[in-house]
Amino acid sequence: MKLASLLSFLTLACVVPATVAQKSHNHQADQVNWSAHEWQAPTATDSRGPCPGLNTLANHGFLPRNGKNITVDMVMDAIHDGFNFDKGTLILRVAAKLGLLTTDEIDNYMLEDLALHGTLEHDASLSRSDIFPDGSGDNLHFNETVFSTLANSNPGSDVYNITSAAATLDQRLALDMIEHPDLTNTIKEFFVRAIESSFYLSAMGDPIKGVAKKELVQIFFREERLPIAEGWVRSPVLITNEILGNLTGRIQELSNWTSGPGCPWIRLQPEGDVSIV
Ligand code: HEM
Ligand SMILES: [Mg+2]
Repeated sequence: MKLASLLSFLTLACVVPATVAQKSHNHQADQVNWSAHEWQAPTATDSRGPCPGLNTLANHGFLPRNGKNITVDMVMDAIHDGFNFDKGTLILRVAAKLGLLTTDEIDNYMLEDLALHGTLEHDASLSRSDIFPDGSGDNLHFNETVFSTLANSNPGSDVYNITSAAATLDQRLALDMIEHPDLTNTIKEFFVRAIESSFYLSAMGDPIKGVAKKELVQIFFREERLPIAEGWVRSPVLITNEILGNLTGRIQELSNWTSGPGCPWIRLQPEGDVSIV
């Protein structure tokens, strides 16, 4: 399935087709002053969320290091400057904008706000546990037990790829269903989980092939650090809508996913749904 049609699952009515607009880019302008972006661990008062990508960008100062008062513009600049994601990629714009629904603020959010279940945060994550209906569970912090499924995938190889990413999605879902039989597992969650897999493969590895070294991916998740000292370099290839759509589609095809009950839904505010009457 093409990314443009998958995007329609993120609309409230699930019916509006999205067209993909690509911007042209001046690669000469893609210079990053890395000395201004050294990794620093967050302090106790800094905000961090369920997204290893945005947490990493905050830990390197591409986003405010305190993880607070984050605007859509800041997110789009940071994902470009830190990882070379194309700012014209609609799904990333949608994600950055959906973040605003996780808070009652008008134009900014904190990274921890993004853990609001049902807006962007979903069940069966790769590195975090679920939040359960009674409010127990931690969907915010890195969890080594949860992460072990991805960490130990593709045995005998030193890389992760689209095949192992698809198998990992299936294994995480199967394991999570034992612990959380009522988890939400519609096409929305499947799409978001698959695109997040394309994020770690493309940001930490070769975005065209969808292959990333295990060591680099593991540092990214466990330490929320760009593994520059271990040989990581920012992708020299602009990571576009087309590239992400291709990786996501291939991961979905290689997965044995089947839908759970229910219709895709998106939580519109921290207080729950908005009634329009
Ligand atoms: C564009 C704005 C973005 C927003 C608002 C956002 C937000 C989120 C949220 C709320 C989650 C938690 C979902 C869950 O696991 O329950 C998540 C997961 C994830 N994000 Fe982001 N994200 C963004 C961009 C990125 C980028 C650029 C990367 C690049 C590496 C990235 C990598 C990931 C990965 C790998 C996961 C899966 C974590 C897991 O399953 O444990 N994200 N993101
Ligand atoms: Mg989650």
